[in-house]
This record gives sequence, structure tokens and C-alpha cells, in this order.
Amino acid sequence: MIDEKISQKYLEKIKLFKKYNKHYYDLNKPIIDDHEFDKLKLEIINLEKKNKFLKHKDSPSNSVGFKPSKIFKKVKHKTAMLSLGNAFSQEDLLNFEKKILNFLNNEPGLNIEYSVEPKIDGISASLLYKDGKFVTGLSRGDGKEGEDITENLKTIKDIPHKIIKKDFPEEIDIRGEVFIQNSDFKNLINKFANPRNAASGSLRQKDSKETEKIPLKFIAYTFGYEKGLEVSSQEDYLKKLKDWGFKTNPLNKKIKTIEDLMKNYNEIEKKRDQINFDIDGIVYKVNSFALQKRLGNVANAPRWAIAHKFSANSSISKIESIEIQIGRTGALTPVAKIKPVNIGGVVVSNATLHNEEEINRKDIRIGDTVIIERAGDVIPHVISVDLKLRGKDSKKFNFPKNCPSCGSKTVKDFNLSTKKEDAVRRCSSEGYECEKMAIEKIKHFVSKEAFNIDGFGKKIVENFWKLNLIKLPQDLFKLDYTKIESLEGWGKQSVANLKYSINQKKTISFEKFIYALGIRHIGLENAKIISKNLKSLKNFINLSKKKNFDNLINIDGIGQTQINSIKNFFENSTNLYVLKNLEKLLIVKNVENQRADGILNNKTFMFTGKLLNMSRSEAKALIEQNSGSIVSNVTKKLDYLIVGEKPTNRKIDAAKNLRVKILDQSSWLKMLK
Ligand code: IVH
Repeated sequence: MIDEKISQKYLEKIKLFKKYNKHYYDLNKPIIDDHEFDKLKLEIINLEKKNKFLKHKDSPSNSVGFKPSKIFKKVKHKTAMLSLGNAFSQEDLLNFEKKILNFLNNEPGLNIEYSVEPKIDGISASLLYKDGKFVTGLSRGDGKEGEDITENLKTIKDIPHKIIKKDFPEEIDIRGEVFIQNSDFKNLINKFANPRNAASGSLRQKDSKETEKIPLKFIAYTFGYEKGLEVSSQEDYLKKLKDWGFKTNPLNKKIKTIEDLMKNYNEIEKKRDQINFDIDGIVYKVNSFALQKRLGNVANAPRWAIAHKFSANSSISKIESIEIQIGRTGALTPVAKIKPVNIGGVVVSNATLHNEEEINRKDIRIGDTVIIERAGDVIPHVISVDLKLRGKDSKKFNFPKNCPSCGSKTVKDFNLSTKKEDAVRRCSSEGYECEKMAIEKIKHFVSKEAFNIDGFGKKIVENFWKLNLIKLPQDLFKLDYTKIESLEGWGKQSVANLKYSINQKKTISFEKFIYALGIRHIGLENAKIISKNLKSLKNFINLSKKKNFDNLINIDGIGQTQINSIKNFFENSTNLYVLKNLEKLLIVKNVENQRADGILNNKTFMFTGKLLNMSRSEAKALIEQNSGSIVSNVTKKLDYLIVGEKPTNRKIDAAKNLRVKILDQSSWLKMLK
């Protein structure tokens, strides 16, 4: 009960802090004086210090009071810094291994060995060494582009400035985690709430002399771009790192079976609090680099690695109300507003209820006492209802049959691949006609993976919408800056910044443009595939003018669901209007012909029949790695049909008719050398 009061007081202060912070940093118009602002900051930090369970993403302890992105120069990573998929159970691990084995065509006798590394909860960094000299250090950023924090990283004693070893590569990005040991953290006076914040905060200091005061550590565990690295496994690489003078995790191991992975996991979880740094799970990596290379990546995580997270925490709370949120594709997501409760160190006041079916299945009602679970960075959710504590007059929750925003009918789609009705209910309006959907669409449009407009957060979208400044994406490029300058909280400088960020994004890649449109079923991956294939916005628009959507079926990876969705998109007149306007206002860069460095450049391939010792996924990946592309139909555009065991004769006949070259597997592999 006392905890609950503290949590509430804490949340109120965070809310205030957020408000003042926004006025101070984003809008350049403070509404309280510096002294009061600092006092509030200190109050929050002291509350966190006294009550270890208090944590909030917007806490001042998570930032040292300034936006890092505006201070440090942004630099592209030569090789992207990927993230990791998560596993929570033995079942997840078995699944992970099964997928790997399938990809490798279940080659007999294949036993996967794993490099097993406790996952330090710090801040990752990429250190570029050229001819043995540490030249540039970057933070992860969005994975593609990081911040240049070289000077701050140079203050860390574990980071060598010069390496003189014969086998040290000519060029290499050494990657690892910056963190602070728990024992050192204890000695820091009242500045940060937890070790991770301390590491992140001190790494982002403007003045590296401030960073130097904090005893940061660095543990190395992987690499990005390299030239001249000669190792064949993660185990060997970790050994080399040590030899070159880097610290590696003393708890690293090599393990062969899932059973032993589980044993190790349980042991480490048990002794977690005796370890002198925070770990939030264990990373498993396929040890062999040859296998890693074959396995490659999916979207932004490697197929060959996974993070086994430590178990979830749960608490009991009460549902105060159920709100329906509407996403950009119209999905109605019920969210339980719960009495704020501390779960494993984080104050939680919202829990997702996923969808209508989930509410019915668990019979979740307003007023119910429920168990809420939270694991790592996954959104908290309701596990179960305590029926004994349910009041007599409790009523079943009526899921709205009409969209709470625009009143349109809500529908459940029929899923073409599962042949079942979706669990999710959606607003049937076509998009910009529904206010909530329109706002979400614009948020998506400006988001990081799409137009990535600096400083244009969700709150600003909502605010500008209310003020009629933006109703459709194109309005963003025709903003009335004089009006914005007169708004409360905005000043000359902040408007100038905004204008600059927006103007910078008037030139955009075709891929990002397609993704930004927010067409249902066209996520990052599909947008990439489509852009590679169609090459230009003009061709995209022509799809609708010439009504040749069905040609899209030739693109490998695009199915009927995606095609229907694109058709629907073009059938809506607002979408056409948006496209026409954006086309006028923006420069959408055509896709250059594929990199000319691959041996299969500009060549198209198709497979029929079963391949020997290789899964279809691996074969496709091999073609793409060598700059070739895959199509899924025999047409004049196909260069090679590769024939495995038991092929479809119809495809071979079609290929013969069109004079497409027909290859068996070994001749194809010879092409690749
Ligand atoms: S490997 C391609 N190894 O986990 C693999 N990451 O979600 C990506 N991390 O941002 C990195 N310990 O900050 C790797 N031994 C370890 C790690 C580790 C911690 C963090 C790292 C990364 C995140 C991935």
C-alpha cells in the first residue's frame, strides 16, 4: 500500500518533469525557473534512490538533461548494428534451433555449437580501428547511423588506443558493451537511478572530462566491418580479442545442446545478483563463422543468434477502465488502464489486452483483479483474472462493433494463409476518413524507419492535427511556420530547427517512401522488395494507371495478400490525392541498378524441384548475396530456371518455350564458384 502511494507520487513528478522538459528543450520556452526545475529533478532521483523499484523511461536519470542527437555528429555504421531476437523458454530455444537446422536443410550429422555470453545490460558501442589505431567510436543509434562519441569512449581504460599485434586486422569495427560495475555505481553520489542509466548518461556528456570521472568499463563481443580478420569461429574471435588487449566476459562459454543451454541459464540466473554487473539474459551465437555466414540475417536480427531473457516479473493490480486504441491500419487494440503497480522495478499503469478474442477467452472485465506480467522491454499484459475477487454486479465487456473514432462498422478479416477469421477487429474505413487512423498514419509517416523527421514526435503530430496544421502527409511539407511560431511553447529557434529537419527529408529513397505510405501488409521488408523491383515511384503509380497489379505476383516474396492490399490502397481517392501531392513536393530517388559487385548482377532466377543439401531459403539468400534476384514465375524476364529433384514439368516446358536457360544445381553452383 505504501509502495503504491510512492509510485503515484513518483508518476506525478515524472509527468511534471516531462512537461517542463518539453518546454525547456523541445520548445525552447521554459515555464519554470532553472532552480525549480533542478529541484524537481533531484526529488525524482532521490525517490528512485530510496525506492529501488521506481523506474520510468522519462525519468531525468535516463538522460543527463539534453538531447544527445543534437550534440553529437551522426555517422553511418559501415555494417549495421543489428539487434537480437528474444527467447523466453526452452520451447523458444528449440524453435530457434529448428529454424536454423531447416535453413541448413537438416544436413545429417550437423551439431550446432553455441558461443554462450551473458547479456550485459549496458550501452553498445562500435570502435573503428585503422592500422591498429582507435579512430572513431560510435553509439548504436538506430543501428544504421550512430553518434560520434569518440572522445568520451577514449576515456575508458578498457579501450586500447593502439594495438600492435601482427594478427590485428588492417581495419575493424570492434563492438561491445559499455557499462558500470555495481560496486562502482554504489559510490556515485545521487546522480543516476541505475547502472545502465549511469553508463548511458556519462557516455553522452558534452565534455569528455565529465565522462572520465565515471569508472566505465568495456567488454568486447563482436565486430562489424573488417578487413583482414582471420578467424573461423566466435570462440576464436573472443580469444583474439583478449590477446589484443580487450576485456571479454569471464562467464563466456561454449555449449552444444539446448539441454545444457538451459542448465547454464538456470545457474546464471540463480547467481545473477552475485555478479558485479547487471545482466538481463544470455546471448547464444552459432559458433562457426561459416555457418553464421550461410545463415545470414532476417530484417534486423541475425538468424544465428538469440537473446535468452531472464524470466518475467508479475504483480497484481486492478483494471480501472478499458480503452480502445486505433492503429494506423484500423486495428482496434484494447488496453487496460490499471492501478499503477510496481513490476520488477518498473511502474506499470497500462497493460495490453491484445484483441477482442483475448478479452473473451480470459473473460476480462472492468473492475477485475488481475495478474499482470512484464518481461524486459515487452509490453505488459494480463495473464489471468482472479474470479474470486470479482464483484456481483460485474458485467462482460462489450467490444465496440463500431469504430470509436469515426463510427464506421468494424470487421474481422478472413486471413488467406491461415484460412481463418482474424482475431483482430478493424475499422472498415479506408484510412484518412477515420480521424484516429489518419493521425496514426501521419505518425507512421514521420517515424524513424520512414521519413525520420527529427524532433517530430507523436505529441507534435497530435497537436498539429488538432490545430488543423496537418491533416494529410503532404501538409507536412507546406507547414505554416509563422502560425507555429505564434503557438505556445514554440520560438524562432525551435521553428527554424523544425523547418530544417523537414526540408532535409524532401529527398527520400523510393523504399522508405513506399514504407511511409503505411499500406497494410507492406512493412519494411516488403517495401524493400517492391522498390528493388519497380525501381521508381513512376512505375509504382503506373501500377494503378495501367491496372497491372497482377504483375506484382512475379516478385518473389509478394503474395496475393499484399497485392490485394496495394489494390485497395489505389482504389481510395484520398490515397491517390496524397500520392499526387507528394510526387509534386518530393524527390523520390529511383533505385539504382543493383550493386554491380555481385557475380549474378542483373540476372533473375527461379527454382523448381528439391535441391540437394540446401534449403530453398539458403539458395535464395545465396542468389541475393551475389546481387541476383529471384522471381516466382516463368516469364520472358527470367534468365535461369534452376532444376532440382522432381521438378514441375509445366515450369520446364514454359521455360523451354520462352528460351529461358535451364540449369541443374551443380551448374548453377559453378556460376557462383
Ligand atoms: S551480439 C548481431 N553479444 O544486446 C548480434 N550483443 O539486442 C548483436 N548485448 O545491442 C550483438 N551482450 O547491446 C551481442 N555478448 C553479446 C551481448 C550483446 C549484450 C546487447 C547489445 C545489443 C543487444 C542486442
